[in-house]
Amino acid sequence: MQITVKIKRFDPEKRPRPYWAEYPVEARPEDRVLDVLNYIKWELDGSLSYRRSCAHGICGSDAMLINGVNRLACKLLVKDLGRSISVEPIRGLPVLKDLIVDMEPFIDSYRAILPYLINDDPAPAAERLQSAEERERFDASTKCILCACCTTSCPVFWTNGRYLGPAAIVNAHRFIFDSRDQGTAQRLQVLNQGNGLWRCRTAYNCTESCPRDIPITQAIEEVRREALWGHS
Ligand code: SF4
Ligand code: F3S
Ligand code: FES
Repeated sequence: MQITVKIKRFDPEKRPRPYWAEYPVEARPEDRVLDVLNYIKWELDGSLSYRRSCAHGICGSDAMLINGVNRLACKLLVKDLGRSISVEPIRGLPVLKDLIVDMEPFIDSYRAILPYLINDDPAPAAERLQSAEERERFDASTKCILCACCTTSCPVFWTNGRYLGPAAIVNAHRFIFDSRDQGTAQRLQVLNQGNGLWRCRTAYNCTESCPRDIPITQAIEEVRREALWGHS
């Protein structure tokens, strides 16, 4: 099928402002948007820049705004988009070139919530055990691939880039509800600050955009309850 792909391009070394470029492409319905971008880069314009790695929805590197919605280019089929496709960089992070944004502010927020197991007890000879039910408690939040689809679709983040954002809170949830972890007080100290947990306005954009189907808004709510009342 013949499709038209509009891409928001930006190369600060050549043009001071972003601009739209249009590419006619012959695509198959089952092609993914990533295949289409690869075709444009490899056959039409080698200067097009975007991140990609695994091509299977695992690495989280190809989050983009596709037809107005944050998606992974490698998980979205042409047949689900129609004959006109627009691709822009995810919002709220500085654009470096074309579809590549500076992920540092996003990763800084992730680092801030201490995304690792904190436990000062002497390590047991084998493993720190937990029951299947205890493991289930934070199962959904282990699925995050740090793609940033959630944080960069959040209207609070668009207006306040210092908001820690849903991805950081989901990753805090992953440890706060892990029965082996002892770092909840430290994490809540970070999350309770002005640009933390309480900035969320329950917009749900984050949940709708997550390619891993993590119930993000619910996770935020659970961490809020934890901050108010402790483990229930
Ligand atoms: Fe991506 Fe979902 Fe993780 Fe957000 S919570 S960074 S949308 S995988
Ligand atoms: Fe933003 Fe998600 Fe809250 S979109 S406002 S973090 S529910
Ligand atoms: Fe790895 Fe899309 S390229 S998630």
